[in-house]
Amino acid sequence: MSEGKLKGVLIGAGYFSRFHMDAWQRIPEVQITAVCDVDSERANTYAAEWNLPTVYTDPDEAIESEKPDFVDIVTPPDTHRALVEIAARRGVAVICQKPLAPSLPEAQALVALTEQCGIPFMVHENFRFQPWHRELKKLLTGGVVGDAVYAVYWRMRMGDGWQPDAYLARQPYFRTYPRLLIYETGIHLIDTVRYLLGGRVTGVFARLARRNEAIAGEDSGVVVLEVDGRTQVILDMSRYNESQYANPRYTFADDLRIDAAGGSLRLTGDGTLFVQPLGKPAYEHRYAHENRGFAGDCVRACQQHFVDQLRAGQVFETSGPDYLLNLAVQETIYNQQTS
Ligand SMILES: NC(=O)c1ccc[n+]([C@@H]2O[C@H](COP(=O)([O-])OP(=O)(O)OC[C@H]3O[C@@H](n4cnc5c(N)ncnc54)[C@H](O)[C@@H]3O)[C@@H](O)[C@H]2O)c1
Repeated sequence: MSEGKLKGVLIGAGYFSRFHMDAWQRIPEVQITAVCDVDSERANTYAAEWNLPTVYTDPDEAIESEKPDFVDIVTPPDTHRALVEIAARRGVAVICQKPLAPSLPEAQALVALTEQCGIPFMVHENFRFQPWHRELKKLLTGGVVGDAVYAVYWRMRMGDGWQPDAYLARQPYFRTYPRLLIYETGIHLIDTVRYLLGGRVTGVFARLARRNEAIAGEDSGVVVLEVDGRTQVILDMSRYNESQYANPRYTFADDLRIDAAGGSLRLTGDGTLFVQPLGKPAYEHRYAHENRGFAGDCVRACQQHFVDQLRAGQVFETSGPDYLLNLAVQETIYNQQTS
């Protein structure tokens, strides 16, 4: 690890990498020295936009020349394995976007490679770093509603998927993914629920559906999880139907309710949190959150976690092995759809 600032190379100059770069520029321990994209025009435009001194179109050359402390991979899922390998073989740390790989065996092979090479590896799983989820976790561990959680209900309504030209403007690849809702979005909810409850998923039941016939994959569905044999979780998700909130991409939760032995917690689509102890009226729980960056600035918080753990030599919350537990749940969900 170099002295002073951590040196990073960003790979993939598309839509979401703008949120990454905005966050890196607000993390004082990091300097991104170069961007790499196979599309040279994209790479050059991005370098100019973010004032980056060096541009590459070949990831191998980028890592060889820059000798960074880490690479940030923000490319499509089917490219992750090869890019991780380029970094891992040189002993360079990696933070990599989800979906980790197109299939579970490919994700397992990717994680195995990072373990064999012994590199620090974190999945850029940002939702659990949203400020309301960090606050909910604090309330749960603080025992504000008791220590036994009975049920979680999470209703997500994105409303960006009903139009004939759905997703084309922002993430056109959504239209052709054979698996969409869980693979791309629901996985965030699975990870966040595992973070909030801290347990093991012991049961899965799911029914998925495609509401917009113009796309290949599923865009709505209900998933029921059992955690540690006692907590019931309902993920009620749709990209088709709309939320009542002006910006459904702020919390990605039209309504999130946690019922526990001592009362309930509730998150609304505008980031407001309520606590309702049993037998008492609900009250608002105030905490800090702002509409900056992506979804409560969770990309910055996620990347700050990567930096903090990397510098301390500590395990990442969303390590490769831990993330495979999310993907095992995802696999069970999809396997149930063929029966
Ligand atoms: N966590 C989130 O909330 C979130 C949100 C949006 C996207 N994402 C994920 O981020 C990743 C990127 O998504 P996006 O919307 O920015 O995609 P995008 O298509 O807009 O950009 C991807 C870029 O990667 C480049 N690229 C492809 N293969 C490459 C390679 N081998 N080497 C270097 N560059 C390569 C492309 O030329 C393109 O510029 C995906 O995995 C996506 O699922 C995550």
